[in-house]
Parts: sequence; C-alpha cells; structure tokens
Amino acid sequence: MRFLSALLFFSSIWTLQAQTPVPKLPLPELKEIPWNKLAGRPPMGWNSWNKFQGKVDDKTVREIADAMVRTRMTDAGYLYVNIDDTWQGERDAQGKIHPNQKFPDMKALADYIHSKGLLIGIYSSPGPKTCAGYEGSYGHEEQDAQTYEEWGIDYLKYDWCSAGKIYSDAEMRAAYQKMGSALDKIARPVVFSLCQYGRDEVWKWGSKVGGNLWRTTDDIQDNWASMSGIGFRQLELAPYAGPGHWNDPDMLEVGNGGMTDDEYRTHMSLWSMLAAPLLAGNDLRSMTPKTLELLANKEVIQIDQDPLGKPAKRLSKSGDQEIWTRPLAGGALAVALFNRGAQPAEMTLQWKQLLPGNIVARDLWKHEFIKRDKESWTTSVPRHGVVLLRLSKIGTPGVRTPVR
Ligand code: GLA
Repeated sequence: MRFLSALLFFSSIWTLQAQTPVPKLPLPELKEIPWNKLAGRPPMGWNSWNKFQGKVDDKTVREIADAMVRTRMTDAGYLYVNIDDTWQGERDAQGKIHPNQKFPDMKALADYIHSKGLLIGIYSSPGPKTCAGYEGSYGHEEQDAQTYEEWGIDYLKYDWCSAGKIYSDAEMRAAYQKMGSALDKIARPVVFSLCQYGRDEVWKWGSKVGGNLWRTTDDIQDNWASMSGIGFRQLELAPYAGPGHWNDPDMLEVGNGGMTDDEYRTHMSLWSMLAAPLLAGNDLRSMTPKTLELLANKEVIQIDQDPLGKPAKRLSKSGDQEIWTRPLAGGALAVALFNRGAQPAEMTLQWKQLLPGNIVARDLWKHEFIKRDKESWTTSVPRHGVVLLRLSKIGTPGVRTPVR
C-alpha cells in the first residue's frame, strides 16, 4: 500500500512536470548578423538522418568518414560529416549539454574527423526539444555554442521542432538570431544551417540571422513524387541564393533504393541546377559503384559548385518536359532537359536560343561532347530522366575543345 501511494505521488509529480508549460523566454531585438565568410559554395558532405535516423552512433560516423575518404568522394568536394538528431544526452548541473551513450566523446570524434581532412557537423533546436524529443538549445544558446567550439564543431543544423509550441512563425527570425549571435561570438567559424521547413519566407531573412543555408521545404522522402515535387518547386526562390547563403531543398536520397538510376540522376541534376547543398544521405560504407558514380560525378558537381552561385531559371515548359538554364562563370551555361513524364520523350534544343557565338556542348552524364552540326539538336530523354549539358565558349580558359 505504501509502495502504491509513493508510486502515485511520484507519478503525479511527473505528470505535473510534463504538463508544466515551458516559460516563454524573451527574444532579442532584430539586427543583422555579419556573414561568417563560410559556404562561398553550396556546402557538400553527408548527413545521418535520411538513412540512419536514430540509429546513428560514434562508430558509424567514424566509418562513414573513412568511407568518404576511401571512395574519394572528397576529391569531388564532399567535406562535412554531419550528425543529425539523437546524439544529445542530459545537461549537467551547470547546464552544459553532454552527448548520450551512443557518442562517448564528442571531442575525440571531432578530432578523428578532422584528422581525415574532413569537417564535422551537429544538430540542435531553438526549442526545448528536438524533433525526435532530445534536448534542444532553448535558453542555452550561448552555452551550447561554446560547447560546440570546445568540441571542434564546424557546422550546426538548427531545427525548429518544439520551438513552434512556444513561438509564433513571426517570432522565428528572432529565435534563430539568438543562436546566430551565439555562433558569431565564438572564435570558431561554424556553418549555420536553418531548418524550419521554409516557413515565414525564411529566404528573405535567413542570411540576416547569420544563416548560410535554409531549408525551403518539408522533409524529402526517397521516392520520385517527393523528390521531384520538391525539386521542381524551387525556381522562384532563385533570387535569394548566392555565395554564402543558399536555398536548401533538403538532403540527398541518392543510393537509398527508392528511385531508379534515372530518377537519382534527375535528383543530382536538379539540385546542381538549383545550386543546392549536396549532403549525401545514404550509407557510404556499402554503396554500389553506381551510387558512387551518381553522387561523385565531378562534371555535374562543378555545375552545383559554380563560383557565380546563380541558380537556374526555366527556359521552357511543354507538358511534362522542361528546359532549364543556369548561367556559369566565364560565360558558360548549364542546360538541363528534364522529362517528368512516365514515358521517354524526344526533346529539342535550339542552340541559338542558348548561347551566341562559337560554343562547345558537353553531355555531363555521358561525359562526351555533342556534335553541333545543325541549328537544333534533338535527343531522347528517359522517363523521369534528364540530359544535362554544359555549353562553353570556345577559347574559354579551362574548356577543352573536342577532338573532331
Ligand atoms: C526534422 C528535419 C529532418 C531531421 C529530423 C530529425 O524532421 O526536417 O531533416 O533533422 O527533424 O528529427
């Protein structure tokens, strides 16, 4: 009986605690945080969420870093190894955050990643809890930024989650600014990735809170409808992206098994035409040579990473077929012929509509130059597929002229 009443007593305290609303902390006045000089090109790397969700741990992250180096994805530009949600443990009496048992020593892990020539990312929330219910940074922004500095963290994804129970969308900017200011105060440069699913037109204020990239959509899934739905919806956000600050249509699903090779080729081409961050979301340890080829096609990645940093515009749309162009440094042009339809389609380019003068055209997935002996060029584009070209003026430095 005594045991039962003690149990009732403690469970009522627990219920009380669980129901006690978290006090709403005051938000700072809006200001503009200076650019941290990072992400001059869209960030590239890997993130644990799409493949591993809560099943990520120290060992897996180390093995992923090893695989990134072994497969030479690093040569293609992949650099960040980012731990998403579920690494957090408890705060101690001083309020300092500690990782949970899956990550015994975060500093040692960061040192390991750095020893491979890579950089490490972590994840938190402006709310008290992350989306998976782990400890967020609410009320601990400066302390957490200092802890990240101590550990040697290079990238922070900051996910709205439970902050939505405390603040309105109109208060998001100030809530993100809190962490932006905290990161600005530490000596270590940290890429700041905002994740609030594109609410409150984040592209208009993301860079003002110190953001280097901001999610523009809900979570991607490993299927054609989700990926293409997101990718083809991003065009009007083009004016907001540029060196230092990027629209983020979410992480890659390439290699996770839910799409065909043609669909993954479209995924990579779309993201590259959009100047989107390229964060692989698959298991790099066991990927097939095909997946590696899709993820690490240097000619495609060169489009994504072009120094002008200008995302694509749509040149034309006819039913399920769309032609997009993206201006590149040195007067070159990327041209993507997308076929969103369920059947293969013939698509035609009029060269004159694209770039004037003497140009060479290269197919970036086939790795071959195209014979331009007519005014126009017609090609067959697979269902849900793409043909991606780079057009360069002959004589531009770095452009090889095809051997005829
Ligand atoms: C949200 C984000 C995802 C991932 C999960 C983790 O859904 O949009 O990218 O970070 O939270 O819980």
